[in-house]
Amino acid sequence: MNEFLELASKTVQKAFAEAGYPTDNVSVILSNRPDLCELQCNGAMALAKTAHKAPFMIAGEVAEILKKDAADCFSKIEVVNPGFLNLDASPSFVKSYLSDMSKEEKLGVPEPEAKETIVLDYGGPNIAKPLHVGHLRSAVIGESVKRIIRYAGHEAIGDIHMGDWGLQMGLIICELMERKPELVYFDESFEGEYPKEAPFTIAELEEIYPTASGKANPKPVDGESEEAFEKRKEAGKIYKQKAMECTKKLQDGQRGYRALWDHIIDVSVSDMKKNYEKLKVDFDLWNGESTVHNRIPAMVKRLREEGWAHESEGALVIDVKEETDNKEIPPCMVLKSDGASLYNTTDLATLEMRREEIDPDRVIYVVDKRQSLYFEQIFRAARKSGIVKPETGLFFLGFGTVNGKDGKPYKTRDGGVMRLSMLIEQIEEAMLAKILENKKTSSEGAIDEAAAKQTADMVALAAIKYGDLSNQAAKDYIFDVDRFTSFEGDTGPYILYTMVRIKSILKKYEEKFGKLPEDLTLRDAEGAEEKELCLVLTRFNAMVRNAFEELAPHKVCAYVYELANAANRLYHSTKILDEPDAEKQKGYLALLSLTGRVFEAGISMLGFEAPEAM
Ligand code: ARG
Repeated sequence: MNEFLELASKTVQKAFAEAGYPTDNVSVILSNRPDLCELQCNGAMALAKTAHKAPFMIAGEVAEILKKDAADCFSKIEVVNPGFLNLDASPSFVKSYLSDMSKEEKLGVPEPEAKETIVLDYGGPNIAKPLHVGHLRSAVIGESVKRIIRYAGHEAIGDIHMGDWGLQMGLIICELMERKPELVYFDESFEGEYPKEAPFTIAELEEIYPTASGKANPKPVDGESEEAFEKRKEAGKIYKQKAMECTKKLQDGQRGYRALWDHIIDVSVSDMKKNYEKLKVDFDLWNGESTVHNRIPAMVKRLREEGWAHESEGALVIDVKEETDNKEIPPCMVLKSDGASLYNTTDLATLEMRREEIDPDRVIYVVDKRQSLYFEQIFRAARKSGIVKPETGLFFLGFGTVNGKDGKPYKTRDGGVMRLSMLIEQIEEAMLAKILENKKTSSEGAIDEAAAKQTADMVALAAIKYGDLSNQAAKDYIFDVDRFTSFEGDTGPYILYTMVRIKSILKKYEEKFGKLPEDLTLRDAEGAEEKELCLVLTRFNAMVRNAFEELAPHKVCAYVYELANAANRLYHSTKILDEPDAEKQKGYLALLSLTGRVFEAGISMLGFEAPEAM
């Protein structure tokens, strides 16, 4: 289905052509003076020079033709100085557009001419490290971008790309060895089968990593003497050395370490799955850095032999600087001087695997924007050495930091790292309190606590996701529990509240008059509020295209917010259930049910759902 403004543009272009003008620069856009008109066309301005005529005259000629030929499209056609065409769409044109739209499952979003296959690398949690707020952004933005891509008709494959192969694994193994040296995994002469049961729980695992990492990188503590700190630093060096050795042995395939690693992955992944499920984030591929470790030797061999990589201070690197750089882009390291692979190596090998197994048109990384230089190095190294095809798009969608109200990275009250689970709980509690409060003042009778909790969790998810997604991804934002959970303003709960209101009108109608009639047909809008809502609805497919092109969930948020405002204005200005004219009432109901569907599509692209009541 064509976009609404495209149809309007075509009509106006025809009039320009009939008046004898070229139409290349003629298009209809939304008015930038909505107080004067709905749409505008500035085409006459650009023609003045070549046509040797005042734009006002050109626009006047076109207006005459439009009045004659396109009265069914435009209910107002005005020429204003210095040569703008001010237009209002006719209610019947809008209605017929919306009724075509309502017949389509995807509400007017066309199938793309060329379907792309896009790999989305998002989530990026690290095994054994608890998820923190940074991982929230990757998951929430990535999930939304994936759904936008799919709604736009392309194929999206989401890969979680877990951090499961680096030094943190060595640190965990090293710490376990200190604590439980008797474990069979550390007995190098052991040839039997390893136990099925992991020698730790998720809670232990989550404690082991920070402890190990703290030992390897000691920070001074209050009241500690310089001497004592120096001593810990020395011990830290040795500890880290040992962890690096463990990492190398693991990567080289030492049996006991691999078995231990399998346990770490199992315990960690099943916990992760629960967390992501709660966030309604799901992945097609649960690959990690380790998935590609078998590919590394052959890849490195080729990079060496073909001369892409060379030794530098013991390490193996690929030069990636380019003449046009205006800042220093350091070489991309492929192997450390001890021969161990690193973050970079696994990312390069992952790109190679994706090319061979998926052959995507594009790979998009949703990662903290502080990694942008890193990805520039990776992209250049991969391109230059033929790891990806020249035509494959590589795109870094970097996001900003989540800050507290003090403008500093969001922390717990005592200054610790904010775990994702704590942050979710905070919002869920705030939401439950609000919902219980609302229920107390409403007339709907007794409160079912369990149902209220379920609703609160649903709305809380919307509060968190919308709070994040409504900002441009690259920007930092302030995590503000009060604002995010508010039922008013540009928030998730406000959107859901509006949707619930629409559902409730439709339900009340059914209670009063029986099932909604099948033949609900839209009518020409009469009132200003009704017309406004219709116009917002006509823009849905254009919005989806734009959000896809720019990989921008915030465009979907801005749209559903506008839709909510328009729907509420109609609600407040119109008696729908008490409308005496049955036909007119059916028209409203048709409009509301289409609005409901557009909302559903919008929030499903954002990755949350609306409850039946709240
Ligand atoms: N695990 C990484 C981190 O926590 C993010 C992974 C991003 N994806 C990638 N392909 N490097 O920083």
